[in-house]
Amino acid sequence: MFKDTIPGLERIFTTDTESPKVVLVTGPPGSLKTSFCYDIMTKYLEETGNSGLYVTLEEPKKSQVKNMKDIGVDLVDELQISDITDLREIDQIVDEEGTDYVEFIEDILRHRKDEKGDQFTIFALDSLGALYSLMENRENMRKRMFSFFNFLRELNLYCFIVMERTQGSEANLLGDEGFLVDGLISLSIDRKKGKLTRYLQVEKMRACNHTMEKHALEVGKDGLKVLGPLFE
Ligand SMILES: Nc1ncnc2c1ncn2[C@@H]1O[C@H](COP(=O)(O)OP(=O)(O)O)[C@@H](O)[C@H]1O
Ligand SMILES: [Mg+2]
Repeated sequence: MFKDTIPGLERIFTTDTESPKVVLVTGPPGSLKTSFCYDIMTKYLEETGNSGLYVTLEEPKKSQVKNMKDIGVDLVDELQISDITDLREIDQIVDEEGTDYVEFIEDILRHRKDEKGDQFTIFALDSLGALYSLMENRENMRKRMFSFFNFLRELNLYCFIVMERTQGSEANLLGDEGFLVDGLISLSIDRKKGKLTRYLQVEKMRACNHTMEKHALEVGKDGLKVLGPLFE
């Protein structure tokens, strides 16, 4: 899964990881969460010829496509991007009852699975916070997320769930997400002497050997690059 995608990831993962997996990609704004997901998915799809789905709820597709072009990530046709950033406006017009957005996303996933079958192997949701902000009823979120993540596993998908997270805080928003997922990747930004450095750290990854160190994450000319570990 991770091998042959972003250069340098082999410094972190000593064994590869298999689907199904639900992995949280967490970090503050600008920590490259979106870029990380697009880059890894694009390279994985190029390598395998499989199909993927990227659901964006926060930043419009157009802006993401431009950002990826700027950092040298060439998107592939097999990565379908579903832009539902304008859902709130549509919702106000067609539906006063309030849509269950988790179910809505499950429908999109089922549709992609029907279309591509076993070829559909990778999915990203960007972001969980944006999904929650659309939901009026936020009761029982732990239970609902538990069943949503199980639904993703039943489809045998490798999933990246983007989640905003203040540096140093727990990886949980409304539903103990950090406990429910199989993997937890933390992206962070360090400010030292006026210089910004970005880092990637794997906090949790079930059934996979990985280092626990923070590694520098850089934007290269063909996307992201993972550099050596940080020794503090
Ligand atoms: N060539 C580059 N070198 C370093 N940083 C860049 C480069 N191009 C874009 N960026 C930064 O990456 C940020 C976008 O990262 P993004 O993946 O959208 O982060 P997140 O999803 O975590 O908010 C931009 O705000 C910009 O500051
Ligand atoms: Mg983003």
